[in-house]
Amino acid sequence: MKDFENSLDTMLEKAFLTISNGVDDAKSYFHTPTVCTFEGQEISARTVVLRDFNEQERVLRFHTDQRSPKVSQIKENNRATVHAYDQEEKIQIRLKGSIEVHHQDSVTEKVWENTREMSKECYSVKDSPSKKIDNPVEFDIDKYQIDREMGYKNFVVNLFTFQSLEILYLKRAGHRRAIFAWNNNDMKKNWLIP
Ligand SMILES: Cc1cc2nc3c(=O)[nH]c(=O)nc-3n(C[C@H](O)[C@H](O)[C@H](O)COP(=O)(O)O)c2cc1C
Repeated sequence: MKDFENSLDTMLEKAFLTISNGVDDAKSYFHTPTVCTFEGQEISARTVVLRDFNEQERVLRFHTDQRSPKVSQIKENNRATVHAYDQEEKIQIRLKGSIEVHHQDSVTEKVWENTREMSKECYSVKDSPSKKIDNPVEFDIDKYQIDREMGYKNFVVNLFTFQSLEILYLKRAGHRRAIFAWNNNDMKKNWLIP
């Protein structure tokens, strides 16, 4: 997109396009954004794979393991920030919103059906992610019989809906920063001093 930095509308279009590209392009920096959530009073950040982006609904989809402590932490406080910086595009995007956790429901069923067999293995690890262990080798997935379908009971789909999107574009002639905030379908947009 040429000259997208000259209007707020094209800044938003560029942001949406950048996030969308992250879904299928494994080389895109937005394929593996950072998701920040609360761990009680502390903030916890981790990389996840971006699985889907619904532009109309402003929803990003990530997967995780039901046994992971972050699932109960998110259920306690579902506010979240998603961040990524693409150093080739020179674009940083920050999203603020909340996460809806899905487990063993129609959403997880549909996604699980379309999940690659290899990815299913991650959810069949024989004990909880984050558990302290003595010997990591015992948990290598080629060391024991994996039942991929058993992994379904550990499979969680996180749907993150954002109400605010901030984009920063680094440009030698003058950086551009803008914020977009949604209240239901009403959207407010503003330039910010970079
Ligand atoms: C490239 C990459 C992709 C990752 N994708 C995911 C993912 O999609 N879901 C996930 O739960 N963890 C993913 N992880 C692992 C998390 O970053 C994190 O280490 C793990 O989930 C434990 O996080 P927690 O302590 O906050 O629960 C990924 C890590 C990397 C490096």
